[in-house]
Amino acid sequence: MNVHAAALAKAHRFDEQTSAFGRDVIDDLSQHPKRLSPKYFYDAAGSELFEQITLLPEYYPTRSELSILLDRRSAISAIVPDGAALVEFGAGATTKVRLLLNECGFDAYVPVDISGDFLKAQADALRKDFPGLAVYPVAADFTAPFTLPDAVGAMPKVGFFPGSTLGNFEPHEACGFLRSARDILGQGAQMVIGVDLEKDERVLYEAYNDKAGVTARFNLNVLHRINSELGGNFDLSAFRHRAIYNRERHRIEMHLISRRAQTARVLGRSFSFRAGETIHTENSYKYSLERFIALARGSGWTPRESWTDSAGMFSVHALVASD
Ligand code: TRP
Repeated sequence: MNVHAAALAKAHRFDEQTSAFGRDVIDDLSQHPKRLSPKYFYDAAGSELFEQITLLPEYYPTRSELSILLDRRSAISAIVPDGAALVEFGAGATTKVRLLLNECGFDAYVPVDISGDFLKAQADALRKDFPGLAVYPVAADFTAPFTLPDAVGAMPKVGFFPGSTLGNFEPHEACGFLRSARDILGQGAQMVIGVDLEKDERVLYEAYNDKAGVTARFNLNVLHRINSELGGNFDLSAFRHRAIYNRERHRIEMHLISRRAQTARVLGRSFSFRAGETIHTENSYKYSLERFIALARGSGWTPRESWTDSAGMFSVHALVASD
């Protein structure tokens, strides 16, 4: 492609992405109750804020999961066949995957993420630090079916889905994701998956309503994106973040609550808010070991082993594809 065509293609892609964002925002704010899709949290600023969340004293999931991966590294490496490819669904900070790569002797690593730029930077760093490892990034939305690179076709596959990202899906979507991962990885595949556990509601509340207000900034960042990318006029100081635990549905819900009656405009449309009205932005489902195991069994996987940290905060499961 010549430079001009490349620039046009890029501008076109930009338009497409912006208008998908615009359409989703208008649809979602037209619902009762209003909502916004969590997929728009992760621009560069959002990803940086999320990294900060993982370091907060109240946000236990990252630390708990890392401690399980570290304590159980030999059990995990025992389930990894020789010459296997590690397929990670979503590519964030590389701390967890580095731990597995150090311990388990993988021949190939396939990070799958929607953000191509991010993937490339991550792949370059890993190639440098693991010279014997073949890295094949795949730029794809892992919530939809995609194909693995031919180069790993003949290798045994191990899926990796850390961070309790499964909990950000609705239960029926979680089942759909697990089935599709089973199809993509194929017969005989293994899966290592991190799942956050139900626990004392105060601990959950504090993890998602941190004192320093980082989660609040993360949640409000979506309004900032609407203002800067879609020309919206949201007053960020007129909304506050609140995460609540919905006990019946076993989930933390993230909301942005309007502090007063107000109207905001986006792309020529007006949206009115009552004082106290909320925009529901995300869910984080919490599982019991039993409920997760039942979900996995019903979604094409046979649980092999389940591990928790000593405080019982978080779980990591080794699954094998059911025949
Ligand atoms: N899956 C993680 C969780 O639910 C990470 C996450 C997604 C998150 N969105 C978040 C963490 C918003 C804090 C705030 O905990």
